[in-house]
Amino acid sequence: MSGAAGLELEQRLSEMRRRLHEQPEIAHEEYVTTATIRGWLLEAGIRIADYPLPTGVIAEVGGKRGGPIVAVRADIDALPIQEATGLPFASKRPGYMHACGHDFHTAAVLGAALLLKERESELAGTVRFLFQPAEEKASGAKLVIESGALEDVSAIFGLHNKPDLPVGTVGVKAGPIMAAADGFAVEVMGRGSHAASPEAGRDPIVSAAHIVTALQSIVSRDVSSLDSAVVSVTRFHAGTAWNVIPERAAFDGTIRTFDESVRARVLEKFERVVQGIAEAYGTPAAVKRIPGPPPVHNDADWAERVGRTAERLGLTVVEPRPSPAGEDFAFYLKRVPGAFFFLGTSGPHEWHHPAFDADERALPIAAKLLAAVAVDAIAGLAGEGAGR
Ligand code: NI
Repeated sequence: MSGAAGLELEQRLSEMRRRLHEQPEIAHEEYVTTATIRGWLLEAGIRIADYPLPTGVIAEVGGKRGGPIVAVRADIDALPIQEATGLPFASKRPGYMHACGHDFHTAAVLGAALLLKERESELAGTVRFLFQPAEEKASGAKLVIESGALEDVSAIFGLHNKPDLPVGTVGVKAGPIMAAADGFAVEVMGRGSHAASPEAGRDPIVSAAHIVTALQSIVSRDVSSLDSAVVSVTRFHAGTAWNVIPERAAFDGTIRTFDESVRARVLEKFERVVQGIAEAYGTPAAVKRIPGPPPVHNDADWAERVGRTAERLGLTVVEPRPSPAGEDFAFYLKRVPGAFFFLGTSGPHEWHHPAFDADERALPIAAKLLAAVAVDAIAGLAGEGAGR
């Protein structure tokens, strides 16, 4: 697309993104967002597919001539963060913000749908657009899968904006590109006493403090130098007064890994460290695991094909450093092969920062790339069907 049409697309996508940005809604509450997306799809004559979702939308382009189905996914939810960008289109809802750029992703996927709608009759298959809710709670992808929207899909693609990559750059690689994001909550049960007579009780604070310290040795002593993991304790609560040893101490946090075997090893070691130290101090501990999404693991073949498509569009393709953040796109890739990739947005701040922003020059790039990836995937799948 060039000239006037290109400018028109850029303006349209920017308008959409700004409108979404002004009305952020958090996971499972994306009702206005859902209605807005539906409105734009219907206005463009794009078919809305009938899958049962409380929030989120599934739409389709193509399919008149049969052929394979490929999915392109956007996440639509925002975060409970007070925006501090000062932008003219900043959030109108105090305490809520699109601080991960899901407004950008939604506009980009809408753009891909608009571009493909223009050439619908040429499509040798169907492109299914998944406007997925609740990515930030890692529960939306599961809802989409349960709705049945993935059942007949042969390949799936999605992107995340990347503030530290410049506009015009695509980061894609085979294997892990984002981490498994598991959570934990630990409660250490002691016996309260006067602070002056600790021997009369069982101090849960000293026990829990030792546990937190010992957990730091998991990464250094149980994970190979060639693998990686993160164990972060992010909250620690105990006690009510300076002269009282409390009954209990509680802490929670997260574990990030890029490989299923490392993940299993770290989780197992975590449990043993907590229980072993709690036992030594005579303060029983209860570990609650909060399983998160697995690592986002790209299919090597599809990752390479996305890279080739991006190069054909004149974009710079780099092998990105995997992100230790989690992404529930991982659940799709457990079922259907595909690739998840990063798109450079020259942002001033990282994801989830109150002054996060994405450079809108990357919007039409994202839309064209997603459309081209879908078309190339259909061509590849149709060719395989015919050739083998
Ligand atoms: Ni995100």
